[in-house]
Amino acid sequence: MHLKVSRAEAEAAKRMLSKFGMLGKGISVQHRGSYVYFPLSNIDRRKVKKVLEACGASISEMAPRPGKTRDYKGGLESALGADVAHSVDTGYDHLGNIAVIDPDGMTKAQEKVLAKHILAANGAITTVLAKGGPVEGVYRVRKVRHVLGKRTFEARYREHGCVYDFDVRKTFFSARLAYERARIAELARHDRHIIVMFAGIGPFAIQIAKRNWAAKVIAIELNRYACRQMDEEIRLNRTTNVMPVQGDVKKMGGRYDGFADRIVMPLPKTSTRFLDEAFAMARDGCVVHFYSFIKMGGLPQLIGEIREHARLNSCSVKVLFTRTVRNYSAREIEVVVDYRINRIKKARPSRSTA
Ligand SMILES: C[S@@+](CC[C@H](N)C(=O)[O-])C[C@H]1O[C@@H](n2cnc3c(N)ncnc32)[C@H](O)[C@@H]1O
Repeated sequence: MHLKVSRAEAEAAKRMLSKFGMLGKGISVQHRGSYVYFPLSNIDRRKVKKVLEACGASISEMAPRPGKTRDYKGGLESALGADVAHSVDTGYDHLGNIAVIDPDGMTKAQEKVLAKHILAANGAITTVLAKGGPVEGVYRVRKVRHVLGKRTFEARYREHGCVYDFDVRKTFFSARLAYERARIAELARHDRHIIVMFAGIGPFAIQIAKRNWAAKVIAIELNRYACRQMDEEIRLNRTTNVMPVQGDVKKMGGRYDGFADRIVMPLPKTSTRFLDEAFAMARDGCVVHFYSFIKMGGLPQLIGEIREHARLNSCSVKVLFTRTVRNYSAREIEVVVDYRINRIKKARPSRSTA
């Protein structure tokens, strides 16, 4: 059994299948016309349904073709030695033409071996970079350095039919949020007024706008480079309904008060500082997608904090959905909480009949 998906969605589908452990090994991936066919194994119906929905894919019963297995892990074990291969992180973040490895615990020579394997295993990757530190600062960027392949920091990354060009040193971008972007774009299909706070180069905003041409999407971003680049991404993706706004969400001065049917808040490190701004920008019934880092088991406390801010803003909230987005560190996870805001109508003072 194969998963049939358009070329534009192939990368995202492959990532999801790998994550779910359902990408068939030892069988060729096939390409026909504008479609890619991924062999499936360990099929879990619910997970398959998720991939079908997120990537607009379908199931195909085409005949399997035995493939040349590139044993990535096995090859690395013999090149690096099993001890090293098991003690360091041999995975990588994949941003189209660029792979970013975590060099923690590796010598420069071992980094090169890993990079060589990545280049050999994935024809789309032409550059391997190494993380040079954590994601940091207000702009949430990370230092990186060149390891092997073409010497560039410019990524061209495709996701769900959208394409993005950006310098990986100058802006935040994470391919790991691909599923969240697809999920929210689907939920926002019938909204009219959407605010994406902390918009970066615009992946949430552009994907929402592409699925919903009638919506007006306001995308607020502090980092000048990211905001300028968002103009470029809008042009590349031929969207006309995203309005980039360069500035601080805290300093919008009431410009968008009561505007939004839906608000996206993808700033997990410090998003709780902006809860009041979201309440101000929301219409009655607005849905908020709120991202945050929490300690394991910290979800009730986070929801309590949201409710407390709701009370202070004369609102109540109904939690619609929560999900762990990813593991962030040994102790912390990133979660998303979707909630609906209801404005509490003040009761009119009753007239005395006495
Ligand atoms: C974690 S990144 C998310 C970027 C983008 N939404 C994405 O998914 O790729 C958070 C972004 O918020 C921006 N940012 C941080 N503080 C901000 C503020 N007060 N107002 C507007 N943007 C801010 C940063 O520059 C950064 O680009």
